[in-house]
Amino acid sequence: MIKKCLFPAAGYGTRFLPATKAMPKEMLPVLTKPLIQYGVEEAVEAGMHTMAIVTGRGKRALEDHFDVSYELEHQIKGSDKEHYLTEIRSLIDQCTFSYTRQNEMKGLGHAILTGETLIGNEPFAVILADDLCDGNSDGGVLSQMVELFNKYKCSIVAIEEIDPSHTNRYGIIEGKEIEDGVYMISNMVEKPDPANAPSNLAIIGRYILTPDIFGIIENTPAGKGGEIQITDALMTQAQKGMVLAYKFKGKRFDCGSVEGFVEATNYFYEKSTEQ
Ligand code: UTP
Repeated sequence: MIKKCLFPAAGYGTRFLPATKAMPKEMLPVLTKPLIQYGVEEAVEAGMHTMAIVTGRGKRALEDHFDVSYELEHQIKGSDKEHYLTEIRSLIDQCTFSYTRQNEMKGLGHAILTGETLIGNEPFAVILADDLCDGNSDGGVLSQMVELFNKYKCSIVAIEEIDPSHTNRYGIIEGKEIEDGVYMISNMVEKPDPANAPSNLAIIGRYILTPDIFGIIENTPAGKGGEIQITDALMTQAQKGMVLAYKFKGKRFDCGSVEGFVEATNYFYEKSTEQ
C-alpha cells in the first residue's frame, strides 16, 4: 500500500515571474483551484492520505491553503457561498499535511532527498504539481501507476511521447516494452539534444519510488545544470534492479510554461461547462 505522496514545490518558477516572486508556482490557479490542490486530489483518488510537501519561499501560502480558515468559515457559514469551500474542506478532513524546507535549490533529486524525513522507509509517490494531469475512465494517472506498482513492486516513472524536437526539456528513457505501454528502462538521459536522444519517451511529473532511492540520491553527484538529478539516481536504481516507465492514459499539461498553463485553463474551463 502506498500511503504517502511527496510534492517537491521549492523551485523558483522563474518562467512565471513576476507572479511567482512572492508565492510558489504551485499556488497558481487553473480556474479556481491552485495547481497543488489538483495534485492532492489525484493522490487521494489513488488512495493516499499523507501529503508531504517540500517547500522553499512562499511556504505560508501553501500551508494556509491546506488549513482551516476560521475567519473565512465563520464569515460565509450558512450563506450561498459556503459551497465554494466544500472541496478543499473535504481534502483537509481526509488528509494530513506535513512540510519540510529545501534551503538550497540543488535540483529535483535533492528536493526528493529533502523529503526523506517526511517519508521514512516505505514506497511513496511523487507529484510535480506543475504537471497537471487528467486521467481517463481507468482513473487518475497516479492510481494507474499504483496498480502497476502492486504488480511489479519497483520504482515507476510516468512517460509521454513528445515531439522529438523537445527532448532537451525532459528526462528521456530507452527501454524494452514488457507489456502494453510498460517499458523496462535500460537507459535514461536528462534533457538530451534531439540528435543524442535515445527516444522520444519523456518522463513527466509522476513517480512511484522505492525508499532505497534516498541512499542512491545521497551518492549521486550533481549532473546536468549542476543539479542533483532524479534521472541519474533512477538510472543507478535501474542498473541495480528494475525501474519501469509507464505510458499513462489521459492528458498532461506543462503548467510550468505559460503556453501549457493557458492550454490547461482552456481545457478545464471547457470541461467545467460540459458538466
Ligand atoms: P522545474 O524544472 O520546473 O524548475 O522544477 P522551477 O524552478 O520550479 O521552474 P523554472 O524552470 O524556474 O520556471 C520541477 C519541479 O521540481 C521542483 C519544482 O518546484 C517543480 O515542482 N524543484 C526543482 C524543487 O522542489 N527543488 C529544486 O531544487 C528544483
